[in-house]
Amino acid sequence: MYSEKVMEHFQNPRNVGEIENASGVGTVGNAKCGDIMRIYLDIDENKVIKDVKFKTFGCGAAVATSSMATELVKGKTVEEAMKVTNRAVMEALDGLPPVKVHCSLLAEEAIHAALWDYAEKHGMKIEGLEKPKSDIHEGEEEEDEEY
Ligand code: FES
Repeated sequence: MYSEKVMEHFQNPRNVGEIENASGVGTVGNAKCGDIMRIYLDIDENKVIKDVKFKTFGCGAAVATSSMATELVKGKTVEEAMKVTNRAVMEALDGLPPVKVHCSLLAEEAIHAALWDYAEKHGMKIEGLEKPKSDIHEGEEEEDEEY
C-alpha cells in the first residue's frame, strides 16, 4: 500500500535531528492523530535554507513525508520553500494512501511554522505565509517526542 519511495524514506529518513541556534523552529501537532513534528531551519543572509532538520513523534508516513519535505526545501529560498506543499511532497513520494494524507500535512505545517518563527525574528513578511494555527510553544510538549 506504500510506494517504494515512501518505504525507503521511512527506513532511511534524511535530515533527522536538530539544529542548535536555528534561524527558525516550528513545532506543530496533527489535529487528527495528536502526533507532533518539529522542524529546524538554518537560513543564511540571502534567505536561502542552508540546512534543515526534523524530529517527530509521528507515524511512518509522517517520517517519510518529512524526510522528503526537508530534502525538497534544502537549498531553496524561503519564498521557494513556500511552494513545497504537502501535495508536492506526496507527488515526490509517488503518492500516499488516502487515510495517510493528513500525515503529510505535519511537515508542511511545521515548515511554515519554522518560517513564521524566522520571519518574526527578522521582522519580515513572507509572501503567502500565515500564522501557524497549530503551533506548539517551547516546553509544552512531552519529553518523549523524539523520533
Ligand atoms: Fe499521525 Fe500519521 S498517524 S502523523
